[in-house]
Amino acid sequence: MTDTKTIHRITVIGTGVIGASWTALFLAKGLQVVATDVAPNAEGSLRKFVETAWPALKRLGLSPGASQSNLRFTPALPEAVAGADLVQENGPERVEFKRKLYGQLDELLPPDVIIASSSSGLTMSEIQSGAASHPERCVIAHPFNPPHLVPLVEIVGGAKTSEETILRATDFYTSIGKKPVRLNKEVPGHVANRLQAALGREVYHLVAEGVVSAADVDTALCWGPGLRWGIMGNMMLNHLGGGAGGIEHFFQQFTGPLTAWWKVLGSPVLTPEVQKKLADSVHAEVGSRTVEELEAERDDVLLGFLELRAKRPETAGRHRG
Ligand SMILES: NC(=O)c1ccc[n+]([C@@H]2O[C@H](COP(=O)([O-])OP(=O)(O)OC[C@H]3O[C@@H](n4cnc5c(N)ncnc54)[C@H](O)[C@@H]3O)[C@@H](O)[C@H]2O)c1
Repeated sequence: MTDTKTIHRITVIGTGVIGASWTALFLAKGLQVVATDVAPNAEGSLRKFVETAWPALKRLGLSPGASQSNLRFTPALPEAVAGADLVQENGPERVEFKRKLYGQLDELLPPDVIIASSSSGLTMSEIQSGAASHPERCVIAHPFNPPHLVPLVEIVGGAKTSEETILRATDFYTSIGKKPVRLNKEVPGHVANRLQAALGREVYHLVAEGVVSAADVDTALCWGPGLRWGIMGNMMLNHLGGGAGGIEHFFQQFTGPLTAWWKVLGSPVLTPEVQKKLADSVHAEVGSRTVEELEAERDDVLLGFLELRAKRPETAGRHRG
């Protein structure tokens, strides 16, 4: 099988929103991190982010050897990747940028070093065409923001990615407490963002049509399906929705209504007027609370939920018993 023990040194390329958060997580898991970025104040911002994230990571449990002092920063790419076991790439979301970067990385790195991209929307087939010699070690490992707190990582290879790379990457992310989901095919937006997009489309439609306010649609989600979705997903909940008859009975009961609703779901057009209507409704929901206050509230509840969730890690997803 695959050996993840050899992955102890990570190079993080691009230390913006996502790269900084990955860095904090890798350090909390006791790994050595060398980070690189071209922005003038990148090192200072990165170290500040890690320091700010550390109490939450401590609350969730630091791994043996975890230390902020295991972080090194260099603006020079060749120096940053020297001795890396895995590269987590978080550069700008532009295909021509990533292609060129993967060409450089392919030349700099031995063939057994995995190059994982955080890309939200690009496919690995597009990106890895830049890596002429060893495209098979390139893979998408798409996190959910912020990766140091939200466990999901979507793993998907391109046409030239090897099965071994996918398995090694999956083992690695599992070993640091992530919840990897493997996609068998490349699709724009991967899976989780497509799900968000599908739901968001109907949310915007309902608010734009005046069926419900932003506050009430958010309440409907948070205090209804959202609570359950944090425990089990759509499929397992449908199985429970069928009672003793399970998913088969659910389909018997709800195929008619569900398919009728699909026909009347909205397709909002986000014109400036519609955007203003949605934004006004959001501001009425937010009131005088600042973004910082809301972020702190979100993260506090999220940490409590993650702690609770850690006690029953297998409730949703693949049964391993
Ligand atoms: N923001 C999100 O919610 C989110 C979520 C999941 C995945 N992603 C993906 O993560 C990647 C990064 O997104 P982000 O939101 O962190 O963007 P960002 O703009 O915050 O960060 C990108 C960083 O790359 C740096 N950079 C630019 N050129 C570079 C170079 N040649 N070498 C090294 N660093 C360089 C920039 O200075 C910047 O700090 C994208 O591919 C994006 O799709 C973003």
